[in-house]
Amino acid sequence: MRHPIKVLLLGSLTVWACRPSTRPAVTPTTAEGPRAPAEGGAPAPRAISPATVPTGDARYSGTYAAGWRFPEAREAAFGADAMVASNSDLASEAGLEVLRAGGNAVDAAVAVGFALAVTYPFAGNIGGGGFMTIRMADGRTAALDYREVAPLAATRDMFVDATGKLTDQSVLGHLASGVPGAVAGLDAALQRYGTMSLAQVMTPAIRLARDGFLVDSALFRSLRGAQDRICRFAGCALFYPQGEAIAPGGRLVQLDLARTLQAIAEQGPRGFYTGPVADALVEEMRRGGGIITHEDLRRYEPKWRDAVVSTYRGHTLITMPPASSGGITMAESFNILEHFAPLPPFGSAPYLHLLAETFRRSFQDRNSKLADADFVAVPREELVSKTYARTLATQIDLRRASVTPSFAPAVREPEHTTHYSVVDAAGNAVATTTTINGGYGSAVWIPGGGFFMNNEMDDFAAQPGTPNMFGLVQGEANAVQPGKRMLSAMSPTIVLDREGKVLLVVGAAGGPTIITAVAQVILNVIENGMPLADAMRAPRMHHQSLPDQIRLESEGFSDATLAQLKAMGHSIALQNGIANVNAILRIPTGWHGVKEPRGSGLAVGY
Ligand code: DON
Repeated sequence: MRHPIKVLLLGSLTVWACRPSTRPAVTPTTAEGPRAPAEGGAPAPRAISPATVPTGDARYSGTYAAGWRFPEAREAAFGADAMVASNSDLASEAGLEVLRAGGNAVDAAVAVGFALAVTYPFAGNIGGGGFMTIRMADGRTAALDYREVAPLAATRDMFVDATGKLTDQSVLGHLASGVPGAVAGLDAALQRYGTMSLAQVMTPAIRLARDGFLVDSALFRSLRGAQDRICRFAGCALFYPQGEAIAPGGRLVQLDLARTLQAIAEQGPRGFYTGPVADALVEEMRRGGGIITHEDLRRYEPKWRDAVVSTYRGHTLITMPPASSGGITMAESFNILEHFAPLPPFGSAPYLHLLAETFRRSFQDRNSKLADADFVAVPREELVSKTYARTLATQIDLRRASVTPSFAPAVREPEHTTHYSVVDAAGNAVATTTTINGGYGSAVWIPGGGFFMNNEMDDFAAQPGTPNMFGLVQGEANAVQPGKRMLSAMSPTIVLDREGKVLLVVGAAGGPTIITAVAQVILNVIENGMPLADAMRAPRMHHQSLPDQIRLESEGFSDATLAQLKAMGHSIALQNGIANVNAILRIPTGWHGVKEPRGSGLAVGY
């Protein structure tokens, strides 16, 4: 049953959407920024008249469906000095503990990362990898890539069987894992920008693993849902002690993990990549037919990259370059959108159409041209250039959907990743996204090590041209090669205001929807004028070029909007929730943190 939707998009807007245009599709942009559409062309996108909306800012509130399931401001936290937002209450508290003890945002982010590995085993990890964007108060900017790499014994067709079919081994089991980067990455961030020792920032995580914590209903539900997968491997006894997931209120104690964390705290990354933990990992790989070796572990290195730095209407975006596709795809999208001024009102069919056509184009580039730039020549400068975006913008027809050849999506597994944002009293900011890809990764749990391994190999084009678990159809550039990083969508991003001060720290989980959801939260704040709580709860859309459809959160957009989009030629797929974002916004009195209204977690500050 659809929720009753109050249709607030009235006639004038509909006319704008459907009327044939006599002007070029693109609003010209000057060097100083965008300007209004030329006179005599199609009517400019118009804000809904305040008379038609019940409350709030006329630019957006009128397009919320009545009864939209995420209520106002419920997830918001305020802090004068510092803030942490993550998908786990206990991990956010761990970050706060470190901040209160005098740590900076990087110290706290590393504390959150290790705590998530304990309290949010769904996605938090030491068996996976991630990306971190850092902006220090003194202006230093950094992008850290601690993505997994393909093992040295990996081959291009390792996931294709003798009949030429893609197997599920890139998703489930021992072959699905890349060499983990999380421990080396968190340590590298701490060494370069932190002020505390690993032992100090890991204290909360070690305590949580050793003494345990009470399972809440979110963890219980997620464990129950993953029982079949996890119980194929060695984690079954720990998480399902009597054959059932530990019930809410039960205590989860992880002694193997506590020992592993202790070894890392004492020895640094050597405590993970060599010695007993590495032995346990390699032994489990050998037992289950995996290919990660001691040499793979010894050779793993996180990489400091040049952040993608781009602008949108006077704001600066600092975000992640390859091996993530997030930064380039987002910069390209924002550069295209900059050609339309102002954007149509939030939630209207013209708005969704313009976003869809923009993302369609930037994802075409993403899927065919982006990959690990250490292995493949990536035309980074061209893709993020304003000139190139102008060319793409001129191809957008404001009245009709363009077409990408259709391809069936293949969503094979529940997915998961997690993003956290941290700011401190000095004004340092950290955005980090980390993942084991699917929920509980490959489901392979390392006995003696106490952690799940990732199934990140599926982020490669395991068979170029065939969709991966996110329905992404990717090309040869992202094919499997030993030592190569699989292309990611993770987009930890820091937005600076016109004065160059940190405004927004944001990122998401959700595979390719990461890119579009992060872009939408940014747009909601800086373009649509929403407070962060509204920017986060606002209904979301997604388009990734293939499959050629707009995905919309069900019940978030009016029936009239859906009808208009269909009339423009879009195929529409409704889904319950899109992406999982955690964000922090600077406000005049300090920081405003909002955890994802669609998921678990906590924003907490002081
Ligand atoms: O790196 C990537 O793009 C994917 N491995 C992210 C997976 C993800 O976000 C799943 N979470 N919901």
